[in-house]
Amino acid sequence: MPDTSPHLPNDTQSAIATITAEIEAGLIEVRRDLHAHPELAFEEFRTAGVVARELTRLGIAHECGIAITGVVGTIKGGRPGPTLVIRADMDALPIHEQTGQSFASTKPGLMHACGHDIHTTTLLGVADVLNRLAPSLAGTVKLVFQPAEEAIGGAEKMIEAGVLEGVDMAIGFHNYPQLPVGQFGFCPGPALAAADTFEVTVHGKSGHAAHPYAAVDPIVAAAQLICQLQTIVSREVRPLHPAVVTVGAINGGIASNIIPDSVTFKGTVRTLHAEAQDTAEAAIKRLCAGMAEGMRVHCNVTYTRGVPAMLNNDSVLEPVVASVRRQLGDVIHRTEPSMGAEDFALMSQVVPAFQLGIGAGAPGRDDRLHNSGYQPDEACIGLGVQALSRAALDMLS
Ligand code: NI
Repeated sequence: MPDTSPHLPNDTQSAIATITAEIEAGLIEVRRDLHAHPELAFEEFRTAGVVARELTRLGIAHECGIAITGVVGTIKGGRPGPTLVIRADMDALPIHEQTGQSFASTKPGLMHACGHDIHTTTLLGVADVLNRLAPSLAGTVKLVFQPAEEAIGGAEKMIEAGVLEGVDMAIGFHNYPQLPVGQFGFCPGPALAAADTFEVTVHGKSGHAAHPYAAVDPIVAAAQLICQLQTIVSREVRPLHPAVVTVGAINGGIASNIIPDSVTFKGTVRTLHAEAQDTAEAAIKRLCAGMAEGMRVHCNVTYTRGVPAMLNNDSVLEPVVASVRRQLGDVIHRTEPSMGAEDFALMSQVVPAFQLGIGAGAPGRDDRLHNSGYQPDEACIGLGVQALSRAALDMLS
């Protein structure tokens, strides 16, 4: 379909496609370099250096050292208008890569296994396209290269540093191995979960395993509590509000013939709705208090709220979806929410935001994020550049 935005040249689609085709090989080179040199949260100094070098080469004004390793580039359009953030994350994971690729990680135990190297590179490509087409933009694009998504701390620090001041809307994106390359996904409303953590220490009274009547057994109490926590989702949370309660660690005792003093277990609560989150927190505390009464133990409960649920706002989602269709055709479809979490959610609480899913699945592969064999299809970079560039040009037209 021809372009429908009144201020854009009619050949916007082909202009974006042509520039992307021209720069794609260079972008893949950058991606492979970043992939070979992964860095953990708040240690992305080399990565930030590559970003700064590329923005300098493109002549795009930028600021470095925001929230330690963050970089923000700014492209001012030819006319005044709103300010749009496009955000990419830059950090890698403590995973030992086993892809066997020629550009595999050179750092043992570190890998870009979530594709943040793809994200950083894609945003550099968007920067190049939008910079060339800047006279067509009515407004400002802020290119936000964020550190430390995996450690869930980077977005918060970037917001504290003022990155969203004066910003009207934000677009994030993530590569999706579950979608074939060439396809895109969107999920209206709450799309990713709030991720809270809890830790419970059950205090009893130690004693000889042969004489439990003379002790207070925290292991039996903890075992019952862990089972009771599984009734929160099935018996207390509204069934149309998704929730997960998982205990991921339990520690207590050292010997078969000793009742220990205490047992500690910890886990995570994932919810998409505030009501479910409140219900789960209150139920964990209440069940622990009940166990104290029922089994003579004493429970210390620490419940910590983590990143909130990520809310995709229709005011950003709808125009982006329309732009992807204009640029690339009928390639974007609705996806299910996920109980995973991501700190772009914090930005989605400050400004209207949308996270675009970019298909990265290679044919015949069953890939997953955070997996030592993950190999996203690099064609997702050029396609992501086209989709995001078009969205920015349409929204600031
Ligand atoms: Ni990720």
